[in-house]
Amino acid sequence: MKNKSLVSITDFTQSEIEELLDDMRYFEANPNRRLLEGKVVATLFFEPSTRTRLSFETAVNRLGGRVIGFSDANTTSSSKGETLKDTIKMVSNYVDLIIMRHYLEGAARYASEVTEVPIINAGDGANQHPTQTMLDLYSIYKTQGTLRNLTITMVGDLKYGRTVHSLLMALRYYNPTFNFVACNELSMPKEYLDFCEENGIKYHATQEFSEEVINNSDIIYMTRVQRERFSDLMEYERVKNLYTLNNAMLANSRDNVRVLHPLPRVNEISQDVDDNPKAYYFKQAQNGLYARQAVICKVLGIKIDKGEL
Ligand code: CP
Repeated sequence: MKNKSLVSITDFTQSEIEELLDDMRYFEANPNRRLLEGKVVATLFFEPSTRTRLSFETAVNRLGGRVIGFSDANTTSSSKGETLKDTIKMVSNYVDLIIMRHYLEGAARYASEVTEVPIINAGDGANQHPTQTMLDLYSIYKTQGTLRNLTITMVGDLKYGRTVHSLLMALRYYNPTFNFVACNELSMPKEYLDFCEENGIKYHATQEFSEEVINNSDIIYMTRVQRERFSDLMEYERVKNLYTLNNAMLANSRDNVRVLHPLPRVNEISQDVDDNPKAYYFKQAQNGLYARQAVICKVLGIKIDKGEL
C-alpha cells in the first residue's frame, strides 16, 4: 500500500490483492479471532448502507474490537455546520481506525489527508468502493476457480456505479474481457474506457443486453440505477427500468456463469432468478464480512498468524 489508508483499489498491488484473498479464505474458515482486542473503530456513514456498515461492524465485533459511529449524519454536529475536516479530526481523537462512506467523490482521500488515523473508504460518491471490490474478486475467484481470462458483463448504471469502477481497475492484472451494457446516459465514463485502453483491456460497449452477450459471459454483474446521484429525476424515470435479468434469459448461459450484484437491488434482477444456482449475489454479500476482516487487519498492520487458533 502507498500509505496506511485504503482510499482506492489502486492503493493495492497485485500481490497485496492476492494476499488479501488468502486472508479472506482464512477468515471464512476462522471468523472469530481476537485480533482487534483493545482497538476502537469508528464507522461514519454520511450515506445510507445496509451491507457495508453492518458487515464492517460485524467484522470488528468478530475480531474482538469495539465500534463507535453513526449511520445518519443528521444526528451529528455536521448537521450544525461542522466541516468534514473537523469531524474527522475529532473522531481521530477517539479511535484507531475510521471507516467512512460519503456522498462526495474524493471525500475519503481528503479525510486521509487531515488525520494520521487510517481511513477505509466505504464508498465515496460515484468514485470508488474498494472493499466491495475485494469481496467481488473473492466471489469471482470462488465461483470460477480463477480470476484470469474471464468475460465479465457489467450491466446497468455504469456511470454512477462506483462498484464497477473499482472492480474494473482491480481486474487489470487478470486479462479480462468486458462487456459494458448500458444506455447512453449511463454508459461507462470515458476515464474508465481510457483506463482499459492504457492497460490493454479488451472491452465491448453496447446498449443491447442480448442473448449473445449473456451466453458468452462468465460473470454477469448487474447494478442498480443510482437514483440518489441524478440531478434530474425525470431522467432517472426514463432509464430506471431499461435492464432487468430474468430466469428465462439464463436458459442457454454457460454452466459456470454466476450472477453478481453489489445490492441493494430494486428491479434489475427478477425474483425468479434467486433460486437459480447461477445466482450468487446473497453469498457475495456474505463474503463482505471476510473481505472487511482482511482489509481492517491489513490497514492496521495486524499480522494474521494462520498457524495459531
Ligand atoms: N453493496 C453495498 O455497498 O451495499 P450497501 O449500500 O447496503 O452498503
